Amino acid sequence: MKNILITGGSGFLGRNLAKKLKNKNIFIYDKVQPNYKCKFIKGSILNSSKINENLKTYKIDTIIHLAASLGVSNTEKKPSEVIDINFLGTLNILKAITNTKVKKFIFASSSEVYGDNKKKMIENLDLKPKSLYGHTKILGENLVKTYSNLLGFDYLIFRFFNVCGYGQREDFVISKFFKDIKEKKEITVYGSGIQKRSFCHVKDACNAIVLTINKKIKNQIFNIGNNKEPISIKNLAILIRNNSKYKCKIKFIPFKKTDRSKNREIYYREPDLRKIFSMTNYMPKINLIQIIKEYTDQQLI
Ligand SMILES: NC(=O)c1ccc[n+]([C@@H]2O[C@H](COP(=O)([O-])OP(=O)(O)OC[C@H]3O[C@@H](n4cnc5c(N)ncnc54)[C@H](O)[C@@H]3O)[C@@H](O)[C@H]2O)c1
Repeated sequence: MKNILITGGSGFLGRNLAKKLKNKNIFIYDKVQPNYKCKFIKGSILNSSKINENLKTYKIDTIIHLAASLGVSNTEKKPSEVIDINFLGTLNILKAITNTKVKKFIFASSSEVYGDNKKKMIENLDLKPKSLYGHTKILGENLVKTYSNLLGFDYLIFRFFNVCGYGQREDFVISKFFKDIKEKKEITVYGSGIQKRSFCHVKDACNAIVLTINKKIKNQIFNIGNNKEPISIKNLAILIRNNSKYKCKIKFIPFKKTDRSKNREIYYREPDLRKIFSMTNYMPKINLIQIIKEYTDQQLI
């Protein structure tokens, strides 16, 4: 891996990954200007010829494709945008690889592909997504495998489980709770808060990606997350409130008054990490209290 193009590299995962990778020749391709120093190409993944031109100009050998439309409220409200960016955008990039030096393609998929499940989610489980976003990620995975077969590049597909950390978008749950606290509002929990999540610090997630790349593993799908502390959203709200200076009230609101429907909600989400552990020894290190402390230290609350 000499010359890498990261789509969506201005985003949360992309900027953390770009810092973690030691390569000098990383090019960030995004429609939004990054807030860190890097080689930046402004463009949309919907512009196939611009991607093809840049792959050739910078002799790109590895694409890390992170650009996507995500976030429940965003994706539920804009179904056409989700299909355009997550499906057609991925197709565009794959088509743009023809006649270039690209040898490796890394695709950011999501735990949303599994839908709801009462047990830990393992990579070979039947995929039953509840959301359009989850469906577009399955389409993306299948496109990557098809084009890998057609064009001969290697691929890695990562299904991320609730990656978080300070600096994440404010519509993701931990950031949202801290925003409520900072604004001295009540912390708002959707439904009764029984839905469980397993949070993985972005540094652990990036470490998993780098470990997998360094082992030169090819053509595999991996769950990436942290399965040590699954927690209900209600208990997460309590933990965050108890660990911040302001003891805000916690308010529960019915799903019908939120941006998501009850039927779309995932009630249990925990990754089975045996595959990535057996192939790379990946072990998440940052626990929930450390994640919360990062926010309270940064926001002084
Ligand atoms: N953060 C998580 O917990 C999580 C979980 C599962 C999957 N993922 C996947 O990981 C990837 C990165 O997520 P993130 O948390 O960094 O999201 P993010 O929203 O912070 O970053 C996404 C980036 O994609 C860019 N982008 C969107 N549309 C584009 C377009 N048409 N052309 C060019 N750039 C475009 C945005 O400007 C943004 O910088 C996504 O593919 C997401 O689906 C993330």
